[in-house]
Amino acid sequence: MNIVLLGAPGAGKGTQAAKLVEDCGLCHISTGDILRAAVKNQTPLGVKAKGFMDAGELVPDDLIIDLMKERIEQPDTEKGVILDGFPRTTTQAVALDTMLAELKRPLNAALLIDVDFEVIVKRLTSRRMCKECGHIGSVADAACPACGGEMYQRDDDNEATVRNRLDVYEKSTAPLIDYYRGCDLLVSIDGDRDVDVVYADVKQALGL
Ligand code: AP5
Ligand code: ZN
Repeated sequence: MNIVLLGAPGAGKGTQAAKLVEDCGLCHISTGDILRAAVKNQTPLGVKAKGFMDAGELVPDDLIIDLMKERIEQPDTEKGVILDGFPRTTTQAVALDTMLAELKRPLNAALLIDVDFEVIVKRLTSRRMCKECGHIGSVADAACPACGGEMYQRDDDNEATVRNRLDVYEKSTAPLIDYYRGCDLLVSIDGDRDVDVVYADVKQALGL
């Protein structure tokens, strides 16, 4: 099964993807996580991407499409993938269609996790991540609930950058809702409910 998770920054894509991985063993590909690792390791991609990410702008399509093409051809994707944060523009969506067609793998669904922008601003400014295992938590977690590791705030989770990310989402990524509706793949889920309630709808949408 191959799934695209759509939704604004902070809608809960990473949170729901982690639950799907635990349940179904699908391969989770988050372009944001790949880019943050590249920035941390100061790879050529990371050096190019850092300024865009810190400003809440999108990294240019050609860089993202190259990285995704390489990632999706790895053997661990054969059982199926959960794409989290990709595609984010129509150009990326068309490139994904080509990649999947070449691999002879269908896209089964595009799940839109829908959350009001003001709820998102509150969520993201209070989000904290684990330095060790990447667990997604909140300011209430003094240490990582999963591994005890140190929690930190992402550089792009300050209010001004969050608001810019939401503007960029509306302009560049929201058009993908119609793109996937047109392919009859879109399922919209109300993401402003308890994590497990949202997840029950995710599973139902995927027939799990
Ligand atoms: P990326 O890392 O993809 O960030 P994002 O899309 O902004 O998404 P987030 O990770 O912020 O949110 P999420 O939806 O995963 O929410 P989460 O589950 O953490 O991208 C970062 C940057 O990289 C981009 O700005 C761009 O520069 C670049 N980039 C990445 N991909 C790119 C691409 N394809 N093209 C170009 N550039 C790209 O949840 C958020 C918070 O809410 C957490 O604290 C969580 O605990 C909480 N929460 C989750 N669900 C619930 C719930 N149901 N109720 C209450 N709280 C909840
Ligand atoms: Zn941890």
